[in-house]
Amino acid sequence: MAGTFITFEGIDGSGKSTQLRLLANFLRSEGGEVLVTREPGGTSVGLRLRAALLDALEQVDPLTELLVFAADRAQHVRRVLRPALEAGQTVLSDRYADATKAYQGAGRGFSAELVSEIIQLATEGLTPDLTLLFDLSVTESSARTRRRSEGKQTGDRLDSEDAGFHTRVREAYLSLAAREPERFRVVTTNGSVDETHERVKEIVVPFLEARGQIVSREPATAGSRDTHRVPQRESHAGLEEPP
Ligand SMILES: Nc1ncnc2c1ncn2[C@@H]1O[C@H](COP(=O)(O)OP(=O)(O)O)[C@@H](O)[C@H]1O
Ligand SMILES: [Mg+2]
Repeated sequence: MAGTFITFEGIDGSGKSTQLRLLANFLRSEGGEVLVTREPGGTSVGLRLRAALLDALEQVDPLTELLVFAADRAQHVRRVLRPALEAGQTVLSDRYADATKAYQGAGRGFSAELVSEIIQLATEGLTPDLTLLFDLSVTESSARTRRRSEGKQTGDRLDSEDAGFHTRVREAYLSLAAREPERFRVVTTNGSVDETHERVKEIVVPFLEARGQIVSREPATAGSRDTHRVPQRESHAGLEEPP
């Protein structure tokens, strides 16, 4: 497909959303056309599914959870991701199918075979071109999540799972990355937000350049990468259905 599909994965509090926002701003400042989206909740139907899935007061059965994430993903793939990629956009998604392998597979205990079949059904084989796995200890991620939710009434339903659950999820993500080293890049997020952003740019800019989606201005000066983007059609913001 003409565009580039980049997913942001990692346990809650590992820094995905912070880094996705910074990268999107950076790419846009370089003239890039970037679609920012997320799972669950990357479509209008998905937003309703997200609200139900993450409601801390709901008792969602694990099988229901697996299938509702798949329903959210099917809508997202068919209505947002494929059209954007076919139009040549750079798509940044806050979580995608690897999250189901980690959370519903390793976290909840569904077999890898069942999880793969359901992912295949929902995605029709759409796989990210690049997956950034943000990695941080469960203790530090939980501390960051707690700080983030200070002042709010409750965290979401999946945040409130115990440390054993988050440890299984983290380890599953790391083993997915080890199994597919050409697609995954692991980014350790124990440094500052800015240090992590630099690391993300070091990975993503050359990746997009190699795909012809960013062109470096000559000559690149030491320390600051000077790039601009091949002009493309104007994009709409994420979290909505395409026309
Ligand atoms: N490198 C960092 N150092 C310290 N705090 C961070 C860092 N990256 C993110 N945070 C903070 O940690 C919390 C979780 O980050 P967030 O990006 O929301 O993670 P995620 O989307 O993976 O759950 C937020 O409050 C964020 O401001
Ligand atoms: Mg987030």
